[in-house]
Amino acid sequence: MTTDRLVYHLALTRSMLEGATIALLPGDPGRVEAIARTEPFANARELANKREYRTWIAYVGATPILVTSTGIGGPSASIAIDELAQIGVTTFLRVGTTGAIQQHVDVGDVVVTTGAVRLDGASTHYAPIEFPAVAHPDVVNAAIGAARALGIPAQVGVSASCDTFYPGQERVDSFTGYVPRRFQGATEEWRRLHVLNYEMEAATLLTMTAAMGLRGGCVAGVVVNRTRGEHVELEALKRGEHNAVRVAARAVADLVAAPR
Ligand code: URA
Repeated sequence: MTTDRLVYHLALTRSMLEGATIALLPGDPGRVEAIARTEPFANARELANKREYRTWIAYVGATPILVTSTGIGGPSASIAIDELAQIGVTTFLRVGTTGAIQQHVDVGDVVVTTGAVRLDGASTHYAPIEFPAVAHPDVVNAAIGAARALGIPAQVGVSASCDTFYPGQERVDSFTGYVPRRFQGATEEWRRLHVLNYEMEAATLLTMTAAMGLRGGCVAGVVVNRTRGEHVELEALKRGEHNAVRVAARAVADLVAAPR
């Protein structure tokens, strides 16, 4: 790219990134500032704020890193990832929340996703469904190491990524209470296949990064255990979010420090 073009949705240019190649990706624009101000990041400041896409820059030593919100779900996440890649980002770590579907995964644990079941639609626009949504080993290892160093329990394995929070995750606390036939029993099937959790962006992210030759990973804090209930309690939400952010921030610092 020769010009310092503004990417359409994120309202960023390559030069605004100051050479940053690593981005943390929360879903919620309301979490971006707090993440950018998390230890060990310093000198955080806002770069752009447009629609669901809010971006802050912060530093690990002299190295700039980005925090960009993706909004919820694959379509909006795909735009953030694509546009960040266009202006020089090569490593992407989603930091989010998730519902566990295995009994042994507790609220407050973090799930480090190694691969995702592609129940989304957006990833199929980047690679055929046979293509795996796999995380990059550097990012997985950094996240596992960070969780270990912080003493936060990490569950490592496969996640299922859905386009919907309600029927796709087989929730009955929806408006109609009805779950279409194709999703009835789905949670038990994923459970038997040792899938750890439901969330909404990992499959899109990991398909895109694997298909584009970039590094992707996902750390999600467990905010509900679906073997016990559907409802996300506020305290659980805070704990899950907090732990995921601490692990992800530490993992980013470790990725900055590690030679590629
Ligand atoms: N995010 C999801 O997609 N599902 C949950 O159950 C919790 C957070």
